[in-house]
Amino acid sequence: MKILFASPEAHPLIKTGGLADVAGALPRALKNLHHEVRLVLPAYRSLLDTLETPPAEVARLQLHGDTAPVRILQTHLPGSALKVWLVDAPGCFDRPGNPYVGPDGHDWPDNAQRFARFARAVVELAQDRAGLGWRAELVHTNDWQCGLVPALLSLEAARPATLFTIHNLAYQGLFDAALLGELGLPPHWWSMEALEFHGRLSFIKGGLVFADRLTTVSPTYAREICTPQFGYGLEGLLRHRQDRLSGILNGADYQHWNPGKDPHLAANYNGRSLAGKAVDKAALQREFGLPERPQTPLLAHIGRLVEQKGVDLILGALPRLMEEDVQLVVLGSGEAQLEAALREAQAAHPQRIGVRIGYDEPLAHRIEAGADLFLMPSRFEPCGLNQIYSLRYGTVPVVRRTGGLADTVVDASEAALRKGTATGFQFDAPTTEALLQAIGRALGLYRQPPVWRRLIGAGMRQDFSWTRSARRYLEVYRLALADRG
Ligand code: ADP
Ligand code: GLC
Repeated sequence: MKILFASPEAHPLIKTGGLADVAGALPRALKNLHHEVRLVLPAYRSLLDTLETPPAEVARLQLHGDTAPVRILQTHLPGSALKVWLVDAPGCFDRPGNPYVGPDGHDWPDNAQRFARFARAVVELAQDRAGLGWRAELVHTNDWQCGLVPALLSLEAARPATLFTIHNLAYQGLFDAALLGELGLPPHWWSMEALEFHGRLSFIKGGLVFADRLTTVSPTYAREICTPQFGYGLEGLLRHRQDRLSGILNGADYQHWNPGKDPHLAANYNGRSLAGKAVDKAALQREFGLPERPQTPLLAHIGRLVEQKGVDLILGALPRLMEEDVQLVVLGSGEAQLEAALREAQAAHPQRIGVRIGYDEPLAHRIEAGADLFLMPSRFEPCGLNQIYSLRYGTVPVVRRTGGLADTVVDASEAALRKGTATGFQFDAPTTEALLQAIGRALGLYRQPPVWRRLIGAGMRQDFSWTRSARRYLEVYRLALADRG
């Protein structure tokens, strides 16, 4: 199958979150299953800066309403032969900083124009109007930044099938109503049945309404978003399309996340011998200036510091946690007041708490390896990748029972412990109290080394490799082709 995979980010070229991990791995997994895949991304300046050789210009496109042409550059995903097309729209992506947010911490004011251009370029590439001799049979689009692609393709007489994957319904791409006309979109799309959402222009609805098929990144989140609690007002539309909506769990890229080969670690290890993990724990304690105490449970958290991730619950748990013999390390960046609260906690307990504000990929690997427990008290979590990495690194996840966290971690109930299927700890209420209870259960088992080793072993044996998820996507692609007719 000829598959065009459109995404606003892909690891290792450009990453702000888990979508990049998915877009860097799933297209490769599809290619390994012998499909013809092209990845298309915006040509951000920081992405271009990471390339060793400058990408070749392979086409120029004159897009609707534009005076200057858009350049299509071609490169490949580092470490793979996967072809990548970069959309270089004048004035849109060649600027410093983050893909979505300016240096002032606010969304770029022209995000609608930027990602509308990107979408139009994706449509031209899919329809082979860039003169590249390649026409997509299926276009796989991701998140609001690609939302206009299925909508625009629906206007074509002959078109590829479309799939829209929801990685996070909380981000919808909502813009001023006037932009509908300014972006040259058909006036009849100003309707509840199309792109209007409570008086605003919604990019995500382009995907939700017009794509042949919809997926999200875990079966539980696929059910949750059809309810008012998780649907942000889109639950009606999602329920209406529920027969076209399914959940496919993300995989883990074990090429990048493998404690046996990870180049970022002080020592490598695997399920048969955890000696290296003890070395990594000591190294991590040193790195954060914490006393090197092999027996003290080391808790960790990595993530975007936003309400979704429930870092405030961890902060709330600190007074009680600090009464126990535990250490905590946190790596993240995001909302200023959460960053400040974490810094304060570290200042209050410098021997117990280590905090790094910022984005640091090698450190994320060292934390996954060196910690004993990984905390993910997310209020909602479409899939979540860190708990999957934690499992492979023998770092036992403590998670809220929601979305992909519910689907990837098996709670250490008595029955699961007896059967040897337990891999972590789950809790229900989004409260500090419930988090503390789950941590308490975990610490209880930590002090029983044979039980703990079994728990770690079961987690390390879990297989969330991308091949399995890629096969599920292929099934949905075929359904999308059948739906398109
Ligand atoms: P989300 O996409 O909602 O942020 P995921 O768990 O799916 O959550 O993916 C987050 C990804 O980003 C993981 O690969 C994680 O290691 C990485 N990550 C998040 N914050 C940081 C950080 N501060 N430094 C390094 N990596 C980070
Ligand atoms: C989103 C979600 C996260 C998911 C990731 C990749 O950012 O918040 O749960 O793992 O996308 O699908």
